[in-house]
Amino acid sequence: MNNEAQPETSKKKRFLDYHAILEKSPTLLLVFSLLVVSVGGIVEIAPLFYLENTIEDVDGVRPYSPLELTGREIYVREGCYVCHSQMIRPMRDEVERYGHYSLAAESMYDHPHQWGSKRTGPDLARVGGRYSDAWHVDHLRDPQAVVPESIMPKYAFLEETIIDGRYIEDLLSTHRMVGVPYTDEMIEQAAADFAAQADPDSDFDALLERYPGAQVRNFDDQPGISEMDALIAYLQMLGTLVDFSTFTPEASR
Ligand code: HEC
Repeated sequence: MNNEAQPETSKKKRFLDYHAILEKSPTLLLVFSLLVVSVGGIVEIAPLFYLENTIEDVDGVRPYSPLELTGREIYVREGCYVCHSQMIRPMRDEVERYGHYSLAAESMYDHPHQWGSKRTGPDLARVGGRYSDAWHVDHLRDPQAVVPESIMPKYAFLEETIIDGRYIEDLLSTHRMVGVPYTDEMIEQAAADFAAQADPDSDFDALLERYPGAQVRNFDDQPGISEMDALIAYLQMLGTLVDFSTFTPEASR
């Protein structure tokens, strides 16, 4: 045995002795374990407080227009989310069938989000523009008339329910309360914008300035604004706000 090894072993022993003190005192052990665990916790959690946003900004995404938001309320009320998802996963079969996978930003103004959890019918995240308004009217009125094997319920009553946007300011204000950036002007003009979007003869320039890309039409092709108009306005804008021919994810910019 070599003499120089001696001090080395005794140093190790001393260190283990200190640890033995910790192991024998529950209070000390608790204090030191907490110290160790909190270092790990701080390293993992603290950076999250300094992240401004976990959703990357994407050009084109804007709050819903008053008519679209009303349609969205009808979608929620009728429980469309029970059979339809609005979330295209980044997997090849989904992307080929439904289009570009859903971005977090595309549902950033959804309260509550409509990702859904079951697909009895197809995903609707990008159904906007896939069919004509007339197709939607026929399909909502009587799905089996369009797709004979469909098990989707009939929603013909929607076209008989005339709506006037009486509570639209309150609806926008409520969404502002939970974080949607509606301006005072958007809320003041909500009733006018609501009516303008369903009337192609209206003066809708201000509406388009506030809600770029909003589609202005008489969606159900009948006089008066019905729940059918609002629901189709919503369906026709789903997934259309982001221009994917110019979109590049932040990570690859
Ligand atoms: C009981 C389940 C069920 C409910 C509830 C339901 N749907 Fe459907 N939906 C389906 C099925 C199944 C299909 C596929 C067959 C068809 O086109 O009718 C479908 C198809 C669709 C399509 C065509 C999608 C495509 O890409 O071809 C749209 C749009 C649609 N539904 C909208 C709605 C809306 C809006 C509501 C609520 C008012 C709703 N659905 C409620 C089952 C449902």
